[in-house]
Amino acid sequence: MTAPYLPPPRLLMGPGPIDADPRVLQAMSSQLIGQFDPSMTACMDLTMASYREVFCTDNQWTFLVNSTSRGAIEASMVSLVEPGDTVLVPIFGRFGYLLKEIASRCGANVETIEVPWGTVFDPQQIADAIRETQPKVLAIVQGDTSTTMLQPLTDIGALCREAGVILYCDATASIGGNALQTDDWGLEVVTVGLQKCLGGPSGSAPITLGEHAVDIIKARRHVEAGIKTQNHREGNGLRIASNYFDLAMIMDYWGPERLNHHTEATSMLYGSLECARILLEEGLDNAIARHELNGRALAEGLLAMNLQLYGDQQNRMNNVVGVYIPEQVNGALVRHDMLHDYGIEIGTSFGPLDGIIWRIGTMGYNARPDAVLKTLACLEQCLISSQHGMQPGAAVAAAKKTYAAAQTS
Ligand SMILES: Cc1ncc(COP(=O)(O)O)c(C=O)c1O
Repeated sequence: MTAPYLPPPRLLMGPGPIDADPRVLQAMSSQLIGQFDPSMTACMDLTMASYREVFCTDNQWTFLVNSTSRGAIEASMVSLVEPGDTVLVPIFGRFGYLLKEIASRCGANVETIEVPWGTVFDPQQIADAIRETQPKVLAIVQGDTSTTMLQPLTDIGALCREAGVILYCDATASIGGNALQTDDWGLEVVTVGLQKCLGGPSGSAPITLGEHAVDIIKARRHVEAGIKTQNHREGNGLRIASNYFDLAMIMDYWGPERLNHHTEATSMLYGSLECARILLEEGLDNAIARHELNGRALAEGLLAMNLQLYGDQQNRMNNVVGVYIPEQVNGALVRHDMLHDYGIEIGTSFGPLDGIIWRIGTMGYNARPDAVLKTLACLEQCLISSQHGMQPGAAVAAAKKTYAAAQTS
C-alpha cells in the first residue's frame, strides 16, 4: 500500500494556477447530490445567475463547460465555426496561437495579424484586418499571460458589430482582476477559467453567449438518438463535430429541460459557484483595485531590485508582472531555489521568452500584501546568491511604500 499523496506547502506566485481560496476548497468537499435533484438544478440556476454578474451581462446563456479553460475555447469554436468559415485571430502572445490552432482544427480558414510580443493592437489594425479578411468570427485573447499584456477591448465590439462579425474573447487569465464588460463592450462570446483571479482550481470553464451566437448554435442543434423524443426539434445546420463540446447540447442540459448530456462535475460546480460568490461579495471594482495595487507593489519592488520589467507597462495585466532575468543570473536556478528553499513558485514564459523573463502573478487569493512581500524578500535572497547587485531590503521597502501610499490616498 502506498502512502497517501500529500502536496508540499507552496505559495503559487506564477502566472496561474494559484492557491485556491480555502472557501472554494471547502465548498468542493461537500457531498454529491443527484443530477436531477431539485437542489442540484437550483444550484445550477444560481451559478448561471452569479456568472451573469461576474461577466457583467444579461445573457441568459451563461453557464459552465466541464473542462479546463481550453475546453470552453474549443466548445466555442467547434460550435460556432463550420469548415471553411473565416476566423480572424489577432495574435500578441502564446494564447493567440492557441486560438489559431483550435480554429484551424475546426476546419476554419484562419487569418492572423500579429504585433511584437510585449505590445498590444491598436483598434485601427483590427479594423483594417476585418475589412481585408471579412471573417465570420474574430477571436481574441484579453489578457495573454505569456506576455502579461492586456488587449484593450472597448472599441473592438463596435467594429465587429458594424461588420457583422461574431466577437469571441478568451478572458481566462484576466477576469476578476481587470475590467471585463461583456454587454457594454459588445463581446458576443466570452470564456474563462477559475485558476487565475477567480481563486479556484482549473477544471471548470464559465462561458457566456450572446443572442447572435445562440442563434448560430441552435441552428446546429442535434439531439442524441437515445434520448430524442418526438417533441424534440433539431436545427437545419451542420451538426457540431464534437459531442462533448457541442454547446447546443450543453445548453439543452443547462436549460429548463435538463436534457441529459454529461454527468455534471458536481464538485467543480460547487467550487465554481463559490468562486463567483467570493468575487461578488468583494465587489468587482474592489477586486480589480486589489489586483492593481498588489501588481503595482510587486512591480515597484522588482524595480527597486534593479530589475527591468518586460513589455508595455501601460497595457500590462494587473495580475501578472514580467521581469527580465539579468544576464549573469541563472533563471532556472533561481526558480529552483525559490521553490525548494522557500516553497514559492514563480514562472518563466514560453517560446521566445522561455528563460528570458520570469512571470510573477498576484492573483485571486494570492493578490495579498503578505504574499507579495514574502515573494520579494525571498527573490532578493536568491538574487544576492546570484551576485546580482542591489540594495538589500530595498524591494520590500518599495512595495511597503506603495501599500502605505494607497492607504492614505
Ligand atoms: C489566456 C489563457 N487562455 C487559455 C488558457 C488555457 O487554460 P487551461 O490550461 O485551463 O485549459 C490559459 C492558461 O494559462 C490562459 O492563460
